[in-house]
Amino acid sequence: MAFATRHFVRAASSAAAMAAAKKLIIKHVTVIGGGLMGAGIAQVAAASGHTVVLVDQSDEILKKSTKGIEESLKRVTKKKFADKPEAGAEFIEKTLKNLTTSTDAAAVVHSTDLVIEAIVENLEVKNELFKRLDKFAPEHTIFASNTSSLQITNMANSTTRQDRFGGLHFFNPVPMMKLVEVIKTPMTSQKTFESLMDFSKAVGKSPVSCKDTPGFIVNRLLVPYMMEAVRLFERGDASKEDIDVAMKLGAGYPMGPFELLDYVGLDTSKYIIDGWHSLEPNNPLFAPSPLLNKLVAEKKLGKKTGEGFYKYK
Ligand code: NAI
Repeated sequence: MAFATRHFVRAASSAAAMAAAKKLIIKHVTVIGGGLMGAGIAQVAAASGHTVVLVDQSDEILKKSTKGIEESLKRVTKKKFADKPEAGAEFIEKTLKNLTTSTDAAAVVHSTDLVIEAIVENLEVKNELFKRLDKFAPEHTIFASNTSSLQITNMANSTTRQDRFGGLHFFNPVPMMKLVEVIKTPMTSQKTFESLMDFSKAVGKSPVSCKDTPGFIVNRLLVPYMMEAVRLFERGDASKEDIDVAMKLGAGYPMGPFELLDYVGLDTSKYIIDGWHSLEPNNPLFAPSPLLNKLVAEKKLGKKTGEGFYKYK
């Protein structure tokens, strides 16, 4: 009996060791796109001890990204190390030491474990990037996209590493928002999926998993909700102000749907809904809205242009 137990324990622990050995421990990360999302992803990865290369199209953009990261780190440090300024300064120094920048993605992916793409939301441009990097990245490297609305499977098919390809959908602002949606396509291997889940936890986030379906979890629920609010207003059933008050006071949401649309950007929302509508034209949840289209055509895109559903001047 004792022998059997010992044998079982040994077999179980060696199976666990084999499973662990199979998983890729991500240490070196390349983030492509140093905009709003890419800079945030690079920041949290570097702050959690990964070596990170942040890539964008010009040194000028990268300078701006680095400046934004430094400022964000100062804000995080003020809160996290409120009574320990020396530890805070050390944290900033260590984080920035882990971070370098480049304008040549192909040249820097040769030793990376994970490539996270956060460039413009355009499938053709993303596919072209992944196809090119596939030739330069090592065999073991996992590719991930931070897309909000495009199909991960389509991007994976532009490479020869469909099993080492998944979605890592972070939320804005990345240093503050705890959620990451980890997207598994039908071709993503279990090992890749687990490595992405582990990486998300390692950068301090709470990952959830979802199949490769339009909008994943959060946007699949949020975007049709916002569109339904626009339709309610378009029909004249209620004013936008009353709809916002109702959802804040009645549902406990921090923002009403029109405030949220203005915050996200009406062009972004239109882009997402148009994309889903072309995929599923008969789905009433994805129907376009004449009012949203009109505001976008008038360049009233929300907070960023000073006017959307509301005026911000
Ligand atoms: P952004 O416009 O702030 O940044 C994109 C950056 O990518 C720019 O700095 C641009 O110069 C760079 N870029 C474009 N093409 C490139 C290329 N071929 N190689 C290297 N760099 C390139 O965009 P943002 O908001 O950061 O979005 C990036 C991605 O993240 C998109 O796919 C978007 O759908 C997704 N996303 C955006 C969220 C948001 O709230 N803005 C939330 C979650 C995901």
